[in-house]
Amino acid sequence: MQKESVVLCVTGASGAIYAKTFLDIVPSLDINIECIFSEYGRRVFNYELGLKYSEIIETYSKKGIKFHEPNDMFSPLASGSVLSQYSAVVVLPCSVSTLGNVANGIVNNLIHRVCDVALKEKIPLIMAVREMPLSVIHLENMVKIQKMGASAFVISPAFYNKPQKIEDLALFVVGKILDLLKAKHNLYKRWNEK
Ligand SMILES: Cc1cc2nc3c(=O)[nH]c(=O)nc-3n(C[C@H](O)[C@H](O)[C@H](O)COP(=O)(O)O)c2cc1C
Repeated sequence: MQKESVVLCVTGASGAIYAKTFLDIVPSLDINIECIFSEYGRRVFNYELGLKYSEIIETYSKKGIKFHEPNDMFSPLASGSVLSQYSAVVVLPCSVSTLGNVANGIVNNLIHRVCDVALKEKIPLIMAVREMPLSVIHLENMVKIQKMGASAFVISPAFYNKPQKIEDLALFVVGKILDLLKAKHNLYKRWNEK
């Protein structure tokens, strides 16, 4: 594998715009993306943005993005020997259901498996959770993920950079995730940046 490669997992939390922004922008930063949509990831994406899964595949395959089926445990991504060649796994948006599965080592689909393998292989794992309010279960699950060396946080756009439209909020969130990946970008204006 030549270029840096990231696995993007899209689950059924609200915030499809974050995943779409990631898919739109990150390939232009010379980072490969391989993508897994959960069943509810597809449905919420369609509900919020009006894009069917078949349309997502058609649009983004043209940009070189490869898609994997969430029920395919024979996918190469399910193996530590393959996933260890990737630079990170990003779950965006991450449902509290997927968070709960991963934090407790319960693997029911390829997204859970990829996150589970990332934890055991020490591959950077970023779980960008969307839920409000949070129960103690959700909070404890995020603590568990953090203790295992991964990042789990609730998506939280800032307003100090004076966003003008919804897309600016999504660019800020994707930019902060790219900061965690140490990727160079100018998706948002940093504090006091002219
Ligand atoms: C329109 C819609 C919005 C949802 N928003 C959220 C959300 O913000 N956070 C969340 O954790 N679950 C949310 N859910 C529920 C998840 O989709 C549901 O728990 C699903 O089983 C998650 O499965 P997955 O993690 O495999 O995608 C939403 C469901 C729907 C239909």
